[in-house]
Amino acid sequence: MSSQPEVFLNGEFLPLAEAKISVLDRGFLFADGVYEVIPAYAGKLFRLQQHLERLNNSLAAIRMPPVMNEQQWTEVLNRLLQTHSQSDQSVYIQVSRGAANTRDHQLPSEYQPTIFAMCQSIANDNLAHIAKGVHAITLDDIRWDWCHIKSVALLGNILLKQQAADQQCGEAILLRDGYANEGSASNLFIVKNKQLITPPKSHNLLPGITRDLVLELASADGVDCIEAEISEQQLGTADEIWLTSSTKEIMPVIKLNRQIVGNGQPGELWQRMAKRYSEFKTDLRKQAHV
Ligand SMILES: Cc1ncc(COP(=O)(O)O)c(C=O)c1O
Repeated sequence: MSSQPEVFLNGEFLPLAEAKISVLDRGFLFADGVYEVIPAYAGKLFRLQQHLERLNNSLAAIRMPPVMNEQQWTEVLNRLLQTHSQSDQSVYIQVSRGAANTRDHQLPSEYQPTIFAMCQSIANDNLAHIAKGVHAITLDDIRWDWCHIKSVALLGNILLKQQAADQQCGEAILLRDGYANEGSASNLFIVKNKQLITPPKSHNLLPGITRDLVLELASADGVDCIEAEISEQQLGTADEIWLTSSTKEIMPVIKLNRQIVGNGQPGELWQRMAKRYSEFKTDLRKQAHV
């Protein structure tokens, strides 16, 4: 038996090294595809329905129908996770418009989508490191106008993230017309006078699954939450800044553009919400064992 991790490609489960696609795949040639990243705790998928709904919304936005239903996805993902029932994993799904016979910008009238899924470990030591607080910078958002689509065209995001990394920062917070919308790979929250604020969903940001959960957990815990635009000035004077994503969870920002945020430590409300988030994960893990 091969020691290669097993992946899913176009209806088959096979070792990673044997998973091959055509160089004419439109995902490769044009970034003509979308993706999802779904955490799984002790084999239990985190908010699967919401992730699949966003996948189907992304597909619809690029004029593709759903490629599999929820039951089919569940079977595929559970099979990938079956050898990882003790650890935390993130499942990666990518769907592209498949390979045409020639390289042509125009959408093919008929095609066979390329459907790929794999899982990899979530680095829990990295999460512990993040919990101590990250540094961030603000940058102009150079991406396109359809940031609500989880497109595999991530060149803008990765170049922005790299600019942050070049300055020893963990994330770039992106500005458009004087407003902060999200990070290069995360959603944005600020706390001001005990109120939790996150920008409303729009074409300027990805509708994060973690974002929605954080809003739910905070509301349930009696926190005053609003969805409102965050100006660059509000960002600069926030008591706390958080960045959320499926694999990084809730990252407290302790320095923005080299200036200390709040008292320079992960804030009080962050501590409370990180605890709620961790309890949510513990409950999920318990469900995996019933
Ligand atoms: C640009 C961007 N915004 C927000 C997020 C957070 O989304 P989620 O919480 O669903 O992981 C991501 C995740 O990768 C992202 O790439």
